Amino acid sequence: MLIVIDQLVKRFPMGQGEFTALRGINLTIGQGEFTGLIGPSGSGKTTLLNIVGSLDVPSGGEVTVLGNSIGRLSARKAAQLRKEKLGFIFQSYNLLAVHTVYENVEFPLLLLKIPAGERRKMVLDALDWVGLTDKVKSKPPQLSGGECQRVAIARAMVKRPSLVLADEPTANLDAANSHNVLQTMVSLNRELGTTFLFATHDDKVISYLRRKIFLLDGRVDKDEALELRTE
Ligand SMILES: Nc1ncnc2c1ncn2[C@@H]1O[C@H](COP(=O)(O)OP(=O)(O)OP(=O)(O)O)[C@@H](O)[C@H]1O
Ligand SMILES: [Mg+2]
Repeated sequence: MLIVIDQLVKRFPMGQGEFTALRGINLTIGQGEFTGLIGPSGSGKTTLLNIVGSLDVPSGGEVTVLGNSIGRLSARKAAQLRKEKLGFIFQSYNLLAVHTVYENVEFPLLLLKIPAGERRKMVLDALDWVGLTDKVKSKPPQLSGGECQRVAIARAMVKRPSLVLADEPTANLDAANSHNVLQTMVSLNRELGTTFLFATHDDKVISYLRRKIFLLDGRVDKDEALELRTE
């Protein structure tokens, strides 16, 4: 299993006390799944994605991602896991404002020390997937919200990671762009076996999911697989 979540609890300090955002989550997610966390605002979707992505740690229970126990990883090992295996699409895009679209998408490949020629092809492929080849020289402040979102998607997918974590990846896209981006993700999932885990309330995204995990108040309320999974 790519992701094993066992009795996961997450508490945040709040005022004098604490707030429990995740209250005992148990889930396994296999290689090649195309799965979404669905639930109302505040149900814990982003909190769960952040822990799976090793950006935060459990308060209780255990989360294992590609054999790494998230709560026990050193900062260096967590950074290595993110750099080599994970792609993130954040709810806020986290683009580098002073760098061009091309440079933003190239960044993960520089960290991986991919040679220049190969890098260029990978960056241009990723920008083609999201329909932004005409904006390579623009900087994020010169782009629309939806274009920024597509740059963030290209940046997450450019290195062809094992696992893409996508937090509301279509929140600012029109219908046509949403479908294009989702079809690109489905192709990567089919062709490369890339696993996708979404957090979303968007019906367009939901219509592409093969498994829907409904969260409510920090718990799994329902878990529906639409087809038999092979693993
Ligand atoms: N750093 C934090 N400190 C305190 N409380 C937090 C923190 N992060 C999240 N929470 C709380 O945990 C709960 C779950 O938040 P989370 O961001 O996971 O929700 P979500 O399901 O992603 O919602 P949305 O659909 O609005 O993005 C919320 O009540 C939120 O206020
Ligand atoms: Mg969220």
